[in-house]
Amino acid sequence: MDTNRGFSALPDFPLADMVRVQKNLERKGVDVINLGAGDADLDPPPPVIDRMCQAVGETAYSRYPFQAGLSSLREAIAEWMKDRFGVIVDPWKEVLPLIGSKEGIAHLPFALLNDGDAAIIPDPGYQAYVGSVTLTGGDPLLMPLRAENDFLIPLSDISGEVANRAKILYMNYPNNPTTAVAPDSYFEQVIAYCARHGVVLAHDHAYSEIAFDGYRPRSVLEFEGAKDMAIEYHSFSKTYNMTGWRLGWAVGNTDLISILSKVKSFLDTGQFLAVQAAGAAALDCWKEWVPGNVTTFQKRRNTAVQELQNVGFDISLPRATMYLWVPVPTGESSEDFAARALETEGVVVLPGSALGRGGEGFFRIALTRPEDRLAEAVQRLGRLL
Ligand SMILES: Cc1ncc(COP(=O)(O)O)c(C=O)c1O
Repeated sequence: MDTNRGFSALPDFPLADMVRVQKNLERKGVDVINLGAGDADLDPPPPVIDRMCQAVGETAYSRYPFQAGLSSLREAIAEWMKDRFGVIVDPWKEVLPLIGSKEGIAHLPFALLNDGDAAIIPDPGYQAYVGSVTLTGGDPLLMPLRAENDFLIPLSDISGEVANRAKILYMNYPNNPTTAVAPDSYFEQVIAYCARHGVVLAHDHAYSEIAFDGYRPRSVLEFEGAKDMAIEYHSFSKTYNMTGWRLGWAVGNTDLISILSKVKSFLDTGQFLAVQAAGAAALDCWKEWVPGNVTTFQKRRNTAVQELQNVGFDISLPRATMYLWVPVPTGESSEDFAARALETEGVVVLPGSALGRGGEGFFRIALTRPEDRLAEAVQRLGRLL
């Protein structure tokens, strides 16, 4: 097939073969424990399911949602941003419902990048950044996230030439996959950097609510000057175990919200209004429901980290996200380690290289199974050492 330059430049997905291997093992009766994708085995809040069932019967919701979406969802989002972060936003000008945050992340470069324009992207990182930049003809400038820099992009390492060409900087804290969190001073530095170089700051906040031991991640919009150039992406997927419902939102700079809305109006027609109504119900039960869900992840984290340490992996307790980012201790590539984990022990983990070359040397465990299954999986991984 004669594909275009952007498509041809997309990186290969190193896990393509692992799905087939997993299915083969399961057919042979192997008890596979899948800790690959960030898709927990937990249920959405009951009030959300109730609202969805009711909303499906409200025939007015069967119409096209378009980009305006459901006003009660926009208002609930604005209310939540105020309650949670103390950030005041206009529900019509500074908020935009999305079909999952990935959709909004992926559509932004369509409006901002000319052929050859650059975007600064954390490596390893969520692959929608590099994918959408590449598909729109942009130039992804991968900046390594390294342990010695606390997995923060070292802004001083970005050359002047890169800074001049960059139109977007992607940031994601709490971070997938490294689980790193960013101090306030880093947010301030990034905002100052973007202001200085005329760069749009796209902050991916998919894990804003999954944080432990009392840690409360902040919104980039809490910081002075952010509304001049920042857009922040939020998701219902992880906070409420609603990955399949496909609902999220963008919030931030009025012009960015407006251009993203325009791009979307040519490419999609918005999420089913009943799902949007259920999203408003999720935000309504946030205070009562989310802490219990986070406690479940925290217990899973504690168990898995303890077991990993017991069997000889070098890992400490992360402060946020539903992942563990573990150095591969055997000297083999992360892909080889993950393949061996699956083929010989029936455990699916994500090789760090699946999220960019900068992820080499690590593998990711998703805390998506109960504590006893995580403990069992770690025992098996221990046998690989
Ligand atoms: C860092 C990050 N951003 C965004 C997303 C996408 O979430 P959504 O389900 O809202 O599209 C994910 C999903 O894994 C993620 O890890």
